[in-house]
Amino acid sequence: MFVIYVIIWCFSVLGAHGYSDGRIRRFPDDFLFGVSTSAYQVEGAWDLDGKSESVWDRFLHKNPDMIADGRNGDIACDSYHNYKRDVEMLRELGVDYYRFSISWPRIMPDGFSNNINKKGLEYYDKFIDELLKYNIKPMVTIYHFDLPQKLQDLGGWANPLCVHWFEDYAKVVFKAFAHKVPYWITINQPNFICVDGYGGKANAPGIGSSGIGDYMCIKNVMLAHAKAYRFYETEYKDKFNGSVGISLAMNWADPVINNTENYQATELYRDFTIGLYVNPIWSKHGDFPSTVKDRVLQRSRDQGYMQSRLPVLSPEEIKLLKGSADFMGVNHYTTFLVKTTDKVHSIPSIENDIGVEVSFRPEWKKSQSSWLRSAPYGIYKLCLYLNKEYDYPAMIVTEHGWSTKKVLKDGSRVRNMREFFKALLLAVEDGARVKGYTAWSLMDNVEWGAGTSERFGLYEVDFESKEKTRTARLSALVYKRIIERRFVEE
Ligand code: NOJ
Repeated sequence: MFVIYVIIWCFSVLGAHGYSDGRIRRFPDDFLFGVSTSAYQVEGAWDLDGKSESVWDRFLHKNPDMIADGRNGDIACDSYHNYKRDVEMLRELGVDYYRFSISWPRIMPDGFSNNINKKGLEYYDKFIDELLKYNIKPMVTIYHFDLPQKLQDLGGWANPLCVHWFEDYAKVVFKAFAHKVPYWITINQPNFICVDGYGGKANAPGIGSSGIGDYMCIKNVMLAHAKAYRFYETEYKDKFNGSVGISLAMNWADPVINNTENYQATELYRDFTIGLYVNPIWSKHGDFPSTVKDRVLQRSRDQGYMQSRLPVLSPEEIKLLKGSADFMGVNHYTTFLVKTTDKVHSIPSIENDIGVEVSFRPEWKKSQSSWLRSAPYGIYKLCLYLNKEYDYPAMIVTEHGWSTKKVLKDGSRVRNMREFFKALLLAVEDGARVKGYTAWSLMDNVEWGAGTSERFGLYEVDFESKEKTRTARLSALVYKRIIERRFVEE
């Protein structure tokens, strides 16, 4: 009888994991679990207690029609007032850390260090203390898209001086919180800031200078990151031994059909979407990928420019950037299929320089966001690719998530998360140095131009209610159980 029980137990547990070899794969004991949000998306209080206007305040106030459901970040989840409830949710989930961002215009309303808003610093100080009270480690993103508008008026990230403005801002934040914060992310997703905000018009500040503004911005953002990293390294590393990284958007890309032409185009696409940001920090020789430099130079010349539209990194800048992070923050959501095209995209984008268009396999499950489909194998391939190409110290998945409508039973999010974990654990087994996972997002929030029409939360937020009531979704309960048991069940 006992033997039968054991056989049934083995079957249910092993089978439940869905691995073809039937083995149980557990997260390593020191693996960390967290959840993430960002200031503009959850805080609200957009002009309270001395906070000034950010580029996103300006952008969505000026273009209300472009917000899918008309809801901007003025109030959002009102976490500025509800932060204790947020910490309660983090405790319910049992996470090791919380990744949130600091709002530059809340701390330095003019953008510069001569005017520090005490009330802004106080807000983050009491919030961090509330986290520490319950043993939840803060992971602070210093910059998550919300540049002070006053700095945008001076050119923003297209102005090389922005590197120094950011360095000063980072210094203020480190000085205030380095003794309390073990994990730092300098900048979130340079591509979203630069490609969609300076190249295209979809994100703030909506410059639309494709092939020029995007590349200027990328160089400056990468240097700003490196300056902040070096400052921490010199001033605080010995004292507090915190880790400082950068979060990069890294979706996987495969050729739509595996012929030579599409295969080469996919490699170039990876160099433009991954290598452009990862190479300067972790490749052997630093610098932007030579494939990208060659391509942009050639296209620039063809178009009558005397120089490449991609700015050059000097030897000193290459040195500054090389090795400038303690971990690679990977924001991974989906996989794209790449094919070559001569078509010029009407929406300006770096894709025009690559000469490709992207699509999905029709069978990949759809989310509520047009750009996001479920293809969990992508994280496995991405991890192996990063291991092969780069010498990085450690990786943290700093974002991964799924969007739905307003539903509490979010089975599609649960499925996407479980399948992702399985692929991630296989990657760890095959050598990926992944130290942590951060679900995007703790709760529904303002998804930039999509407003609140795309819900990414483990907790649902009732934006109609005055209190912005939060309710746990099914996925919150599943994630809690995964954190507790450290393996993934069906
Ligand atoms: C990446 C961004 O960092 C975050 O702000 C956004 O909400 C999620 N992806 C989902 O699109």
